[in-house]
Amino acid sequence: MTLTGEDPPRSAGPIHRIEGWLRARLARIGVLKRAVVGLRHRRDRRRWEREWGDPAKRPPWLVEDVREPVRAAVADGFLVPPGRALDIGCGIGHNAAWLAWTGFDVVGVDYSQQAIARARSLFADRERLDFVAADVCRPTDLGPPFDVVVDNGCLHVIQRELWPAYRANLLAWSAPHACFMLRFRSFGKSLEECEAGVRAFLADSFEVVQVDAISAAVPQRATGAGLLFRMRRR
Ligand SMILES: C[S@@+](CC[C@H](N)C(=O)[O-])C[C@H]1O[C@@H](n2cnc3c(N)ncnc32)[C@H](O)[C@@H]1O
Repeated sequence: MTLTGEDPPRSAGPIHRIEGWLRARLARIGVLKRAVVGLRHRRDRRRWEREWGDPAKRPPWLVEDVREPVRAAVADGFLVPPGRALDIGCGIGHNAAWLAWTGFDVVGVDYSQQAIARARSLFADRERLDFVAADVCRPTDLGPPFDVVVDNGCLHVIQRELWPAYRANLLAWSAPHACFMLRFRSFGKSLEECEAGVRAFLADSFEVVQVDAISAAVPQRATGAGLLFRMRRR
């Protein structure tokens, strides 16, 4: 017992030394993990640059037209122009251009400079349409919040470790009650597992209005199957 009422000094016994050693190791592992995520992110980006760099290359999943679920969402009134619309991971810009044609003021964002250059040249004559080269996993100011956000195949190609960064942007970019459409490929996982993952990721900020299973865009590759979410920002 101490007369001053202060805690007695803790001796640096073996348990404290082991604790300190473990903490230092874990910190180093954390640094390493972040470095690996950064390296993978740069590798993924280089892959997308190569994918979009050759216009003669036509990846089997590419639809050089608006995607049917986007067209359907305008037709059935889930997405109602006018307003501001954002296409996340817009590639060469067909969804963005079509949304602009329906009357939305559209921004298409993609981190591939090649994709953005092709989108700009393909749709140079379109009004209400802007393409921005930016990484959706880094803080990026895209102006006033959007009433509509579309992600057709971007989130599912992003490493899980970077999802929180994507989410922070999504929340900054979407207006209250904004509509969010997400096409998410399962890559061989069960659809139940994918749905639970996406719901857990976004449930506190987005209400899931509808989820539909979608078949593989390329029938011989079952991994093309996935889910189509319609959500609304809370
Ligand atoms: C499967 S493609 C889909 C392209 C387009 N949305 C479509 O429907 O055809 C995925 C796109 O996401 C882009 N992308 C992936 N990670 C990204 C990131 N962190 N920031 C911005 N774009 C990204 C890629 O460059 C690529 O154009």
